[in-house]
Amino acid sequence: MRATITATSRFLPEKVLTNSDLEKLVDTTSEWILSRTGISERRIVENGEVTSHMGTKVSLELLEKTGIDPSEIDVIIVGTITPDMIFPSTACLIQNKIKAVNAWGFDLSAACSGFLFALEAGAKMIESGAYKKIIVIGAETMSSILNYEDRNTCILFGDGAGGVMLEPAKGDEGIIDSLLYSDGSGGDFLKMEAGGSLHPASIDTVEKRMHFLQQNGRKVYKFAVKGMAESSQAVLQRNNLSGKDLSLFIPHQANRRIIEASAERLGLRQDQILINIDRYANTTAGTIPIGISDAVDSGRLKQGDYVILTAFGAGFTWGSILVRWGNCK
Ligand code: UT7
Repeated sequence: MRATITATSRFLPEKVLTNSDLEKLVDTTSEWILSRTGISERRIVENGEVTSHMGTKVSLELLEKTGIDPSEIDVIIVGTITPDMIFPSTACLIQNKIKAVNAWGFDLSAACSGFLFALEAGAKMIESGAYKKIIVIGAETMSSILNYEDRNTCILFGDGAGGVMLEPAKGDEGIIDSLLYSDGSGGDFLKMEAGGSLHPASIDTVEKRMHFLQQNGRKVYKFAVKGMAESSQAVLQRNNLSGKDLSLFIPHQANRRIIEASAERLGLRQDQILINIDRYANTTAGTIPIGISDAVDSGRLKQGDYVILTAFGAGFTWGSILVRWGNCK
């Protein structure tokens, strides 16, 4: 029995931070940001729109679209590296806000691959037969861990959330296969050092700016293209498919050049690729569910379509999931 996505939803805060706004904060230009990353603007939370708030909005819309009662939800999985707090989990906060009184849940930390890993976990739970209705969310408040004095990182990220309802498939649609990976030797290239047991919060960690995201962009770039292209190629091949069979390639949105380089290695045409980085930037675990929801709302997915979801992120973590699209609201 396969798991299939029966509804999608996304929540983007209304406040827009443009490249020109960033010109006023750091030594950069709109043109540099657009040409190097493909980003024109990003959304930023305000007035208490924290991660659980965005995840709740997404969950409520999923319930509304499917007509499922909150008490029927079995599990809530939230891919995030910017939870409201270290504990309790964002999944518990959402569970309470949506009154999913019979659900258990947990947060899953895999950075930009967070939604992919959460989707795989949810799909396997459905396949086991033990669970029937699972909400899988990717939600991030990246602005809470960015240093708006560091031009190397603050221009890249935005806030936002997306999610899907997972249920048992009735036919041959659904999540077909996946290839997911971790390689902790890449951990130093993208990290937030403080706030955990290694460097608990202190005046020193604040003064040394250790509560902000740090990245070696050039290193991550190279691994990202290789990781997304190779895992997508491999999962297609082992299902006797190729790039030509894909209706849509929904990649993590970290850099337009990374997306295009990965797609080129798969021999994809422009119309097979979902790109929304121009509007939302990199929302980490949010990019893929936001992308799926964008694709559904713009009519780019129909029943029977083959879709690849792929991501690369801190850890390193990466991989690809092959989906045969079903009936989805
Ligand atoms: O989602 C998680 C995974 N993250 C990623 O996938 C990000 C991957 N990396 C990237 O997307 C790119 O590496 C960046 C967009 C971060 C940087 O682009 P790049 O083409 O790799 O530039 P670079 O790091 O090689 O830097 C080129 C120059 C540097 O100046 P020097 O050292 O050559 O004088 C940077 O200091 O560009 C400079 N620079 C900037 N200039 C204007 C870096 N950031 C900026 C900026 N505005 N915002």
